[in-house]
Parts: sequence; structure tokens; C-alpha cells
Amino acid sequence: MYLDQSATVFVNASLVFSLNMELLLRTLGGLLLIAVATKGFDLTNFDQLEAAKKSADKRIVIRDLFVPSGKQLDLKNLQEGTVIEFTGRVTFGFAEWDGFMVVIKGKNIRVLGKPGHLIDVEGHRWWDGLGGKGGKRKPRFMQVTLEDSLVSGLNIKNTPKDCFIANFCKNLRIENINVDIKDGDKKGGGHNTDGINCGGSSNVTISNCKVHNQDDCFAIGSGRDIVFENNVCTGGHGISIGSMGKGKVVERLTVRNCVVIKNTNGVRIKSRKGETGLVKDITFENIELQGVTQYGIIIHGNYPDNGPKSEPTPFPIENLTINNVHGTVGRGAANILVWVTPGSAKNWKWNSNITGGKRRLSCKGVPSGINMPCGKI
Ligand SMILES: *[C@@H]1O[C@H](CO)[C@@H](O)[C@H](O)[C@H]1NC(C)=O
Ligand SMILES: *[C@@H]1O[C@H](CO)[C@@H](O)[C@H](O)[C@H]1NC(C)=O
Ligand SMILES: *[C@@H]1O[C@H](CO)[C@@H](O)[C@H](O)[C@H]1NC(C)=O
Repeated sequence: MYLDQSATVFVNASLVFSLNMELLLRTLGGLLLIAVATKGFDLTNFDQLEAAKKSADKRIVIRDLFVPSGKQLDLKNLQEGTVIEFTGRVTFGFAEWDGFMVVIKGKNIRVLGKPGHLIDVEGHRWWDGLGGKGGKRKPRFMQVTLEDSLVSGLNIKNTPKDCFIANFCKNLRIENINVDIKDGDKKGGGHNTDGINCGGSSNVTISNCKVHNQDDCFAIGSGRDIVFENNVCTGGHGISIGSMGKGKVVERLTVRNCVVIKNTNGVRIKSRKGETGLVKDITFENIELQGVTQYGIIIHGNYPDNGPKSEPTPFPIENLTINNVHGTVGRGAANILVWVTPGSAKNWKWNSNITGGKRRLSCKGVPSGINMPCGKI
């Protein structure tokens, strides 16, 4: 089209021709610039990592990368405004070690999974059913420490142990993460494969994620102004606050519109025996449980014991709202268990409808005046 016009101009007037030619060159130049800007630094060879982080266009395309055994994909010291894209199949060598296989740290960063990509950690090489408690040494997978940033669309498969950890983040959105560790469900398979953990962070929203694993779907041990919404959890240990202790605080956490399928727990707040801290301004709203196997809702102050085995330690849990947490647990499960020091629970609101569990346990420390079917089947 454009060339046709230029051709016409060529026939008609040389002045207009040169103007048009200039326009054409400028347009081509512009296209060239756009091409350069969107191309980014193609990181296909691990040795190029440091060069990629310095690249002028601040765009790192992690394409079919193989990260050698025992090496960390170190994406710290990123330039502000960097975009990191995962594309193709990204894999890792096997080594027994502690630490994180991937770390990402920076400000105004976007971490994006491109359609069809897979971060395939091949955790079966480490799995022995023991997780962090023995057997092979297993690295944790990814830790991000991000400010004013976005993590979107990552497909992460079969991590050796913990999957995605957002620590000391501020103003971060995490969305459409797919943590797929369902291969670890077999005996001697994955253990302590936490899906998404969050600690020491503020203003973090985690939404539209899927987690199939063998430990907490989501766990938070400290932080404030956190939202966990529209997520689906399968196979793991539920949505957890804790284990709390060491004086740590979780405040202003909202968990809403989530589905918890065949986890050991639905919703859980746990604090360790002999330690204290504070849990405050917490809402669990519109949570559907399907076939939870041990506890629909469990709140206890004597972890690692469960419930009536030992006395809880005083640990304030204030302004807790359980609203429309509903669904089913298995016959061998307890619908609800609360086991906290009398006086620790203040200003609770409770509206739940969990059915199916035939395990009847007595409760302790339920605030007076709230209508909670604790210890009932
Ligand atoms: C919270 O973080 C989001 C980014 O996820 C940001 O848009 C928003 O402004 C932040 N809110 C506050 C109060 O800083
Ligand atoms: C209770 O916590 C919710 C968040 O879950 C918060 O919106 C509300 O303001 C808190 N109420 C009080 C009285 O602090
Ligand atoms: C509780 O849930 C069951 C189904 O799981 C339902 O039949 C029952 O009507 C619900 N009760 C209330 C009060 O909503």
C-alpha cells in the first residue's frame, strides 16, 4: 500500500517524493526501534546471565534455558523497570543443596510467563517422601523480593520442596501462577512442597492461582495488607496463617473466593507452643471446601500438636471474621477445631457451614456469644 503511494508520487513530483521517502525511512526506523525494544536479551545460555541483567533494553527473555546443577538463577540486582519473560521449557540440573534455585529482586519489575512456557523443575529427582526432614537435600524453588512489581502467568511444575516464596515484598501483584506438583502425590513423592508463601511483606495481592501440592497451598507467617483471592488449592494442607511465633505479626489479611479441594485442612491458623505474637484483622470469606480430610477449619495454639493433645500457649487472635466458609470434609475429619488459650480470641465473627466430619473434638477458648458449631458433627 505504502510503496504503491510512493510509486505514484515518484511519477508525479520529485519534491513530494523526497518528503514521502523521508516518511518511509522514518517509519522503517521506527519499526526497527520497536523490533529492538521488544526483542530483549535472549537468555539461552546460563553464562550470559550477568550480561542479560545489564542489557540496555531491560528485557530478559529466559528462553529454553538450562540452569546447571547447583547453580542459582540469580536475578538480583536488576535494573529498575526490568521485564523478565519465561518462554519455552526452562530446566535445571540435579544437585543436593540448600538455598533457592531462582531468586528475583528489584523494583518496578515484571516477571511474565509467556503462553505455552513451562518451568519444569523435575522434582522427582529429589523426592523421597521426606521433604525437609531428611533424605536428599532439597533446594527451595523461587524467592522473590519485589517492590511495585507484577508476577504473572508462571507455570511451575514439580519443585523439589517449597515452590514460590514472596518475602519482604511491597506493592506486589501475583496472578495466574500455576503450581503443578500433582506428580508428587504418590507414596515416597513430594513433601513440604509449599505452594505460595509470603513473609514480611506488605500490600501483596495473590489472585487467580492454582496450586496442586503436598503442603500448605498458601502460608503466611508475618506481614500486613495481604489479599489471597480467587485461587484453587488441590491436594495440599490448606490455607494457613502460621506457624506463628517469635513475636511475629500477621495483620489485615483477606482470603476470599477460594476453593480448597482434598487438602488435609481447609482454613488454618496455628501458633507454636511456647511462643507468641499477634494475628489481627483477618477475614476468610466465601471459601468452599471439597473433601477436606482432617480439619475443615482449625485454629490452635499448640503446634506442632493438634488440638487436645496439649495446652495452648496464649497468643492473641483479634478481629477474625469467618464468613461463608462452607462445604464438605471426609467422615474421618473434624468440621471445626478451635484450641486456644481462653482470652486469646477477641472480637470474632463466625458464619460457617461445614458438613461431613464425624470426628468430634472438644474446643477451647471459643469467645462467648458467638455461635460456632465447634466440637459438633
Ligand atoms: C498496592 O500495590 C499495588 C500494586 O500491586 C499498587 O497499585 C497500589 O497502589 C498499592 N497500594 C498502596 C496503598 O500503596
Ligand atoms: C477487622 O478486620 C477487617 C479486615 O479483616 C478490617 O476491614 C476491619 O476494619 C477490622 N475492624 C476493626 C474494628 O479493626
Ligand atoms: C449447609 O450446607 C448443606 C450442604 O453442604 C446444606 O444442605 C444446608 O442447607 C446448609 N445449611 C445452611 C444453614 O446454609
